[in-house]
Amino acid sequence: MRWLPRLPLAGGYFCGECKKIQPIPSKNLFEYIGVESKFALNDDELKKKFRDLQMRMHPDKFAHTSDIERSISGEHSRMLNTAMKTLGEPLERAKYLLETEGRESIGEVEKSHLAPEELMEVLDWQESVAEMEDESMLQEEKSNVKKEIATAMKTLDGQLTAKDWKASKRTVIRLQYLYSIRTAVDKKIERTFSRTFSTSAAMSTSPAPPKEDPSDEYAMCRAHHRFARKDPCSCANGDEVQVSHYALRWHVHFPLKMLIGSVTLTAKVLKTTQHVWLDVRDLSIRSVTVCGKNADFRIAPNVYTFFGSRMKIYLPVDCQREGQELEIVIDYSTSPDASALQWMKKEQTQDKKAPYLFSQCQAIHARSIMPCMDTPSIKSTYDAQVTVPAGSTCLMSAINEGSKGTDEETTFFFKQPVAIPSYLLAIVVGVLAKRDISDRCAVWAEPSMVEKAHWEFNETEDILATAEKIAGKYIWGRYDMVCLPPTFPFGGMENPCLTFLTPTLISGDRSLVSVIAHEIAHSWSGNLVTNKSWEHFWLNEGFTMFIERKICGRLVNEKYRQFMSFNGWTNNLIPAVYEQFNPTHQFTRLIQDHENVDPDVAFSCVPYEKGSALLFYLEQKLGGPDVFEPYLRDYLSTFAHKAIDSFQWKDHLYKYFHDKKDILDTVNFDQWFFAVGMPPEKPVYDEEMLHDCEALFKQWIEADEAAVKTITAERYQKMQPLQQIEFLSQLWQHDPPLEHYKLEALDALYKLNDSQNCEIVLNWIRVCIKAKWEKIIDKAIWFVESQGRLKYCRPVYRALYAWPVAQKRAKETYLRTRSEMHPITAEMIAKELHVRHSTHTVCF
Ligand code: BES
Ligand code: ZN
Repeated sequence: MRWLPRLPLAGGYFCGECKKIQPIPSKNLFEYIGVESKFALNDDELKKKFRDLQMRMHPDKFAHTSDIERSISGEHSRMLNTAMKTLGEPLERAKYLLETEGRESIGEVEKSHLAPEELMEVLDWQESVAEMEDESMLQEEKSNVKKEIATAMKTLDGQLTAKDWKASKRTVIRLQYLYSIRTAVDKKIERTFSRTFSTSAAMSTSPAPPKEDPSDEYAMCRAHHRFARKDPCSCANGDEVQVSHYALRWHVHFPLKMLIGSVTLTAKVLKTTQHVWLDVRDLSIRSVTVCGKNADFRIAPNVYTFFGSRMKIYLPVDCQREGQELEIVIDYSTSPDASALQWMKKEQTQDKKAPYLFSQCQAIHARSIMPCMDTPSIKSTYDAQVTVPAGSTCLMSAINEGSKGTDEETTFFFKQPVAIPSYLLAIVVGVLAKRDISDRCAVWAEPSMVEKAHWEFNETEDILATAEKIAGKYIWGRYDMVCLPPTFPFGGMENPCLTFLTPTLISGDRSLVSVIAHEIAHSWSGNLVTNKSWEHFWLNEGFTMFIERKICGRLVNEKYRQFMSFNGWTNNLIPAVYEQFNPTHQFTRLIQDHENVDPDVAFSCVPYEKGSALLFYLEQKLGGPDVFEPYLRDYLSTFAHKAIDSFQWKDHLYKYFHDKKDILDTVNFDQWFFAVGMPPEKPVYDEEMLHDCEALFKQWIEADEAAVKTITAERYQKMQPLQQIEFLSQLWQHDPPLEHYKLEALDALYKLNDSQNCEIVLNWIRVCIKAKWEKIIDKAIWFVESQGRLKYCRPVYRALYAWPVAQKRAKETYLRTRSEMHPITAEMIAKELHVRHSTHTVCF
């Protein structure tokens, strides 16, 4: 085999003799992809070359070749993506030409690069878009910008062909401005459209999406996902070895902040192999035996710390054959920095009686508690014996099988007889009291909280019974809940048999129990039918949102479900696409690419809301709930106890609705799956419950200082909490921000600063920060200090950071409190504040 340093390009990616892949022959992207170096490229030719090369170079094709070939293929793959990203987008292509040929670099847009009159023109334009409210005007503006972009592109083509670099550079900068105006117009339309014109967007009247050519632009995404079957976030070789059971023996050691003990894996060799690969993170491994014999093992860190490390266990020679049953015993302990665990001193708890511990394994933190195949594609049962200090109770995501103890310690026994993915492993230890709600439901909390929690979650049995009517029989035996300390980073976590809840749900009026409906819905979507990897997370969360709203629809009424769904679109999805990310961001896709991506970073409400909007849309298209609910049950029972991807979901949908293929064919699934930005279609939502919110919103927006004084509290107080939240969210999303006298009046009338409902507080704080009302800073700081729910802390910290007046205090608050924060929250907020944060030491 010969490595030829410079090969002729055509077909030169592989050695002519031995056919092995060759190092990258040229750094020039045009040459690399094999197209002429010019601005006016033929898009089809470019795409075809890209697809062809990607097919041939994909690293999966080199999985069984030498390390060097694999690494070369990885380099090609990266180079190819860069080439496509750069050359596939005209503006990027122009910049590349300018840089490589014209030696002109374009950094951040600088106003000084434009002629004064040109600058005035774009700034005026930006301003007028900001003020536009009327949809037809916006639509007209949209086509104006489009035309202007097309003209500028033509000019640019001429300038680049003439190699007039200076003029080209000016046009590129002008185009950047035009692009930003285009985004502003799109964003505006999306909002105005959803607020005021959504009935005119009725699906029945909207044209069917254009039929896509099968060689469409998403074909590559599809191919990529079809090829990359393996979970990119795990090193487990689940295709070769199947782990059917984990047996855990732990001592919970509070002074050392460690779980000390062992795990025994029961496994079977599916395909003859020499190794078992497990995910680990910050674990100290003392010994490994396989079927009673000492076994060698190696631990190697992954390139990205968030993936932890890979543990390779060498199977004894007589244990490698297909069909071999394995018993792997691993003696180990966790690190005090285990990313899945929060260890709390007794002073940090509500009752201050004893230290406290709780876990959060989703998405890929289970590997910091035990060596495991940490991928949702593999399901196993587990049992556990956990020893804790006397006086403390241990709960797990399993059925309790009793306890025994001495004066010093108590050992609790658990069994989870249903096979679950690793991310559903969970543990809590603390002084906990229990109140029954029904035969199968109870709530746990620190003793001083338990009554309040019991009252707030008293409807749980009704919610569970309603969920069963929608989704089928509840198979997990018990549905208990534990109300955790306020640092718990989520609203709820669907650990089987034992949902974890944030105490911020206790608002005193049961207004936040939809979170319980959500976690209960996961008993089917997520815990029974599971996403195969975090790239298909919408199968867990989109379905769960959809079922959650179905449950609430039954418990309240259909109009309420419609309103909740509308709310999800306008107040969650739109801000996520336009505020948190931008409409071209990769994380706005329904199916994501998690190659080298931390799922905690990719986490957002996009999979929740795009996913549930897709289901809501399909339900309407296919004939409504009477048709769709039986389908839903069929889907859940077909894939129960399995892990699937979006393609299996779609295949089943087509199979189930084989007599409605014509309707399904009008849905642009590729665009729903792979396109960035808002979904291609918007469902129709009943808007009755919206009217009150809009009327009140208008009243506030239109009022002047005198009129504000005449507004009374009554209208707001009569609204349901979700309507109040919608009203505040409208105020937050409105441009320009509210005048300060209105904020004073809003607070005085509605007592927003005193609200016990965190959703209201969040929206109120956002309204005020947007308006740069300095009086809110104290409240905002208190809010992020008093609880650690990511849904609240992330946007508030982000907004404070972006506000120069508050930035210093935001950082100071974080640095002062981070040692008491949950490790996941600490990590995520550090990113928001651009502060370095590395608690993760590898100790082996
Ligand atoms: N399973 C999620 C929480 C989660 C997701 C944890 C991904 C870690 C990684 C849970 O079911 C959830 O969605 N919680 C929501 C509440 C819900 C009502 C939208 C939350 O925490 O806000
Ligand atoms: Zn969820």
